[in-house]
Amino acid sequence: MTQIPRSKAKTAHVNMMTDTIIANLPADALRSVIRVILTTEPSVTSVLEEQTRIYLKKTANQPVDQLFQSTTEGVASTSNFTWVQQRLRCAIGCGLVLDSFPILNKIVDESVSLADKHTVPRTTELNHSLASVDGDIVQALTAIQKRLLSDSGSRDLNEEERPVMDSLFTSLLRCHQRWLASAQDFPFERSTAVLATMLGRESGIPTLAHQNSSCQSQITGRKTSTSIETFKVKGIELPKLFAGLWQLSSPSWGTASQTQMFKQFAEYIAGGFTAFDMADHYGDAEVIFGRLRASLADPEAVFGATKYCVFHKITVTPEVIRANVTERCQRMSASKVDLLQFHWQDYNDHQYIEALRLLQQDERVRHLGLCNFDTARLQEVIDNNIDVVTNQVQFSLIDARPRFGMGEVCARHNVKLLTYGTLCGGFLAEKWLGKPEPQLFGPDTTPSQRKYFEMIQTWGDWDLFQTLLQTLKAIATKHNVSISNVATRWVLDFPYVGAVIIGARMGVSEHTEENLKTYGWKLDEEDQRSIEEVLGRSRREEVFKVMGDCGAEYR
Ligand SMILES: NC(=O)c1ccc[n+]([C@@H]2O[C@H](COP(=O)([O-])OP(=O)(O)OC[C@H]3O[C@@H](n4cnc5c(N)ncnc54)[C@H](OP(=O)(O)O)[C@@H]3O)[C@@H](O)[C@H]2O)c1
Repeated sequence: MTQIPRSKAKTAHVNMMTDTIIANLPADALRSVIRVILTTEPSVTSVLEEQTRIYLKKTANQPVDQLFQSTTEGVASTSNFTWVQQRLRCAIGCGLVLDSFPILNKIVDESVSLADKHTVPRTTELNHSLASVDGDIVQALTAIQKRLLSDSGSRDLNEEERPVMDSLFTSLLRCHQRWLASAQDFPFERSTAVLATMLGRESGIPTLAHQNSSCQSQITGRKTSTSIETFKVKGIELPKLFAGLWQLSSPSWGTASQTQMFKQFAEYIAGGFTAFDMADHYGDAEVIFGRLRASLADPEAVFGATKYCVFHKITVTPEVIRANVTERCQRMSASKVDLLQFHWQDYNDHQYIEALRLLQQDERVRHLGLCNFDTARLQEVIDNNIDVVTNQVQFSLIDARPRFGMGEVCARHNVKLLTYGTLCGGFLAEKWLGKPEPQLFGPDTTPSQRKYFEMIQTWGDWDLFQTLLQTLKAIATKHNVSISNVATRWVLDFPYVGAVIIGARMGVSEHTEENLKTYGWKLDEEDQRSIEEVLGRSRREEVFKVMGDCGAEYR
């Protein structure tokens, strides 16, 4: 007989009024409230995950109906597809990643018959849905990759993981054959490439260099243009604007086919965005970047900055550290990493100094940087004679914490900041001028915006943010640029800032040309004064006190 787990009586009670809120709050608002609960009380996260697992398991046996159907406009996905996709995303999110594989397999299997666009005309919506599943598989594989990390480095796939991954790989290859035969762009190229890397198998998908794609002609490497401002890292000249690839880590930012992504990568490179920021946990960013770079006539023309992030306890040994660098090289199809940025979660565990020392000794790490290190630990690293060239931190008009100490240490030791959040996920743009507060879980809101909207609230409120946008707009008009250009310029002009990393939704949205207008002009004293007038009314000093120094929000 199964035993009923004992629970405290008080957990069975929710106040009547609270129950009324839960029953009546619209789903969007409920989501925002849950998010606030989790940021205020992070320990609740494990309860949310556990309850999601219980729900998914309890409801696991529901039959899965038809995923695609014919409509007058062509074949489209069904509401059942949406339901199934929501479930599999929840499974990935709450740690039941292996449970998502059978359903991913089913979607891939059913996609085989969608290959011939002439006999089976597909709606645009269906193409988007298939691209989003490609993103889901990448996210599931990233989750598996994280599971492989152990305190002694990384383990092999176990007997539970390997068969489901093999099975999905077989389905993907079968599907690929069929799409190839109908001369159609295969919708699951990204995930097939990542899975092949993880299983050590051949994907059979031609490298970019062999694809007869129009974007090939655009990939010509760095365009020499006098308008591109640069800074130097140990003699290497780098652009002051990097393109950030965090946005590839989840389909929540929107997804595009690999062909569309490569096309946009090509445009970035041709426009002078030749440096890219990624990480070991940004989905397939490293793999896509690696494939793209390997296809260039001059791979050295493009600079790849990635990260080694230690979120959980590990025992630092030469083997563990070397294994991570090997993985970075494999995923980036390279023999060296241009810039490896190191993140260490727990400062109480002082092994980070040893880890950095080992990374410094690894001949495959061209340059060593830090990620989200605070001022005290940056100083400690420098005092230990570790030669770090960069530190990646949040820095914007809304989050100016680097001005409180970090900047000074960087300037003294010639460490350059690579900044993120500089556009607040896109809020610092004309698009939001005169607009009401965003719906946090609206269809167009990105995870990045959810993060930075909370930042805006810590800094001030939406009204003050609107005043800031108006001020920036006046400055932008004066210089014939955009609000985003002014916001970026403001950060770039701090001498200890090397580059601003601007997040890119490859193949989804496009700002290459606009962002190039950040170069070639400066904010004058009057501009600085009017910006300062608005910032002076914010809680910027409290941001530092409440959130702590750079990177403290992650710890
Ligand atoms: N180390 C860390 O902890 C960390 C954390 C976050 C980010 N990062 C890095 O920093 C990168 C930046 O990401 P982020 O989340 O901070 O985003 P962000 O750069 O503040 O914002 C990016 C968004 O701004 C919008 N945008 C870009 N240029 C624009 C322009 N000229 N005009 C109007 N809108 C424009 C785009 O939105 P639309 O696409 O909606 O148009 C874009 O998706 C990431 O990709 C990652 O590489 C690192």
